[in-house]
Amino acid sequence: MLALLLFALLAVRSHALEVHVPESPVVSQFGMDTVLNCSFSGVSKFNLSDLSVFWQLSDTKRTVHSYWLSRDQLTDQDDRFSNRTSLFTGQLRSGNASLLLKNVRVADEGSYSCFVRVQAYSSGAMLMQVAAPFSKPLVTWGSESLLKPGDAVALTCVAYGGYPEAQVLWQDGAGQNLTDNVTVSQVANEEGLFSVKSVLTVILEPDSTYNCRLTNPLLGDEASASVTITGQNAVFPPLALWVTAGLAVCLLGLLVALAVVCRRKIQESCEEMRAEEEAKELEEAKELEEAKSAATPLKS
Ligand SMILES: *[C@@H]1O[C@H](CO)[C@@H](O)[C@H](O)[C@H]1NC(C)=O
Ligand SMILES: *[C@@H]1O[C@H](CO)[C@@H](O)[C@H](O)[C@H]1NC(C)=O
Ligand SMILES: *[C@@H]1O[C@H](CO)[C@@H](O)[C@H](O)[C@H]1NC(C)=O
Ligand SMILES: *[C@@H]1O[C@H](CO)[C@@H](O)[C@H](O)[C@H]1NC(C)=O
Ligand SMILES: *[C@@H]1O[C@H](CO)[C@@H](O)[C@H](O)[C@H]1NC(C)=O
Ligand SMILES: *[C@@H]1O[C@H](CO)[C@@H](O)[C@H](O)[C@H]1NC(C)=O
Repeated sequence: MLALLLFALLAVRSHALEVHVPESPVVSQFGMDTVLNCSFSGVSKFNLSDLSVFWQLSDTKRTVHSYWLSRDQLTDQDDRFSNRTSLFTGQLRSGNASLLLKNVRVADEGSYSCFVRVQAYSSGAMLMQVAAPFSKPLVTWGSESLLKPGDAVALTCVAYGGYPEAQVLWQDGAGQNLTDNVTVSQVANEEGLFSVKSVLTVILEPDSTYNCRLTNPLLGDEASASVTITGQNAVFPPLALWVTAGLAVCLLGLLVALAVVCRRKIQESCEEMRAEEEAKELEEAKELEEAKSAATPLKS
């Protein structure tokens, strides 16, 4: 009696059609092909001609793909899915009603419903999210020839072609987050892919590193770019120029001073020589006079 009841229950259960779709959102890569899983169970043996599979957008009820009477029925398929969808017809008999969607676009993101009818009828809905990695970020800063330490400088970090919006984080060389004076803008192109631009304004110090870290929240991938601003490099040509010019002026001054000193020394030695000569002449004249006076006889 109990066994019979159990059997009856199992029989009822096994006749109940169940449709299974992923519970958590499926992440599909932009531009790639993706499989939206849908499987059904609860029917043991059936003719393929008795099976209907119907995929539609949950919100707008637009048709993504239809199948009945053993073949695809695409007359009322939404244009944007044309030539991009197919079922795995060889696996329908084993309960696989998954949809292959080719060349995924940003606009494909959303909730999809999978309807299956054999003898009974059931359905399930799943969320599909699109992800595209961003290009490697690039950090630049403007009007570099005019920069010197102490100036406010705008560092710009850009990356392209990602989806969804990026998370941008600026860090200094020690890995500290820089959250003040940061702006972020994200603009979508006609394909829905974002360009991200973040500007960090800092008071410039020599030998500083600024790092722009970019993450795609769906892919979890992180890319970063950094700039290091040292006191010696070409970032500060005015400073370098001033130092060079200053050195040159010092050198010139030194040379001039040296020249003046030399000239004075030369003049001095010349005068000394002349003085000596004069002294010699004077002595010679004196001797001559003395000789003369010696030659004249003394008048006594
Ligand atoms: C789809 O189903 C297959 C087989 O059950 C499984 O290996 C795969 O991980 C599923 N994919 C998704 C995105 O759920
Ligand atoms: C259905 O079949 C396709 C193709 O073999 C496979 O990629 C997919 O994972 C299958 N899905 C399920 C739910 O078994
Ligand atoms: C499958 O269809 C054929 C002809 O349409 C029929 O004879 C047969 O009984 C069907 N089988 C099942 C399992 O429904
Ligand atoms: C789909 O493919 C057919 C045949 O290859 C072609 O005529 C049609 O223009 C395509 N549709 C789209 C939207 O690409
Ligand atoms: C920096 O910010 C990120 C994201 O806001 C956070 O996860 C991280 O812990 C922060 N790190 C520091 C050192 O504050
Ligand atoms: C933010 O910018 C303002 C003006 O440009 C500046 O006075 C301030 O020091 C900056 N703050 C930080 C933390 O850099």
